[in-house]
Amino acid sequence: MRFKNKCVVVTGSGSGIGRACALAFAGSGANVVVADINLQGARDTVQLISAAGGSAIAVETDVSSPASVQALVAQTINAFSAVHALVNNAAIQVNKTVEDTSFEEWNAQLSINVGGVFLCSKYFLPHLRRTKGSIVNMSSVNSFFVEPSCAGYCATKAAIAGLTKAMAIDHGREGVRVNCICPGYIDAGLAEGYFQSQADPDKARKEAGKLHALWRIGKPEEVARAALFLASDDASFVTGASMVVDGGFGSGLPPK
Ligand SMILES: NC(=O)c1ccc[n+]([C@@H]2O[C@H](COP(=O)([O-])OP(=O)(O)OC[C@H]3O[C@@H](n4cnc5c(N)ncnc54)[C@H](O)[C@@H]3O)[C@@H](O)[C@H]2O)c1
Repeated sequence: MRFKNKCVVVTGSGSGIGRACALAFAGSGANVVVADINLQGARDTVQLISAAGGSAIAVETDVSSPASVQALVAQTINAFSAVHALVNNAAIQVNKTVEDTSFEEWNAQLSINVGGVFLCSKYFLPHLRRTKGSIVNMSSVNSFFVEPSCAGYCATKAAIAGLTKAMAIDHGREGVRVNCICPGYIDAGLAEGYFQSQADPDKARKEAGKLHALWRIGKPEEVARAALFLASDDASFVTGASMVVDGGFGSGLPPK
């Protein structure tokens, strides 16, 4: 129960990796704020947490909107008085080259994926400073190793790794740690969207597994355990880090 009596906010926790993070933090005793633009998804996550005996609230949030994020902060403080960790996980992915990506699609990825990290961090930092809390940003192996036809998405994930380091050095002396996680392919919404964008989604899913040394894609829970570690006191001397949780994706191509 590492997070007993602590409050953890997870954005994009109405599904996928964010939901797994919310469940893991709740299972470790946290009061979890499930923030998602998809309110039904957020409510479903809260129901799963409640059924397991945990504590959580759902807050409809658009992380790309300053007013929406400020409302999220207010509801969090109103419900739980303090906040100890923020997991910036919400993102979208457009599976296109630069040439095929519209300006609107480009801007949407920037404002949700990077702008969301900026806005949530900006408005939660005063509260995280009080508790000497921590921020965990969801980046991707695509911040180091890019793949075809997701140019804008890869750019946003690299930006998150840079922003993580910038926030780590700006807020380290205040006791706030900031890290990011770089998952490989994980069995969740964005990877599924990528598979579906390929000519043969089943083949694409199978081939994706083989890009990892472990010859399989990961599970959302395997990323959630890393988020739990980084947000906990077990990681008290870890800040500015990009933690790779990629089944060996970045180690090189495994033998055929
Ligand atoms: N699935 C993968 O293979 C993979 C790999 C590396 C990194 N990641 C990262 O993990 C995170 C979660 O991905 P996932 O695969 O679980 O995706 P997902 O689509 O299952 O979850 C993303 C969630 O974000 C929410 N969201 C979208 N726009 C939002 C907005 N404007 N405001 C608030 N919430 C919003 C969605 O409603 C959804 O619930 C993302 O940051 C993604 O880049 C995923």
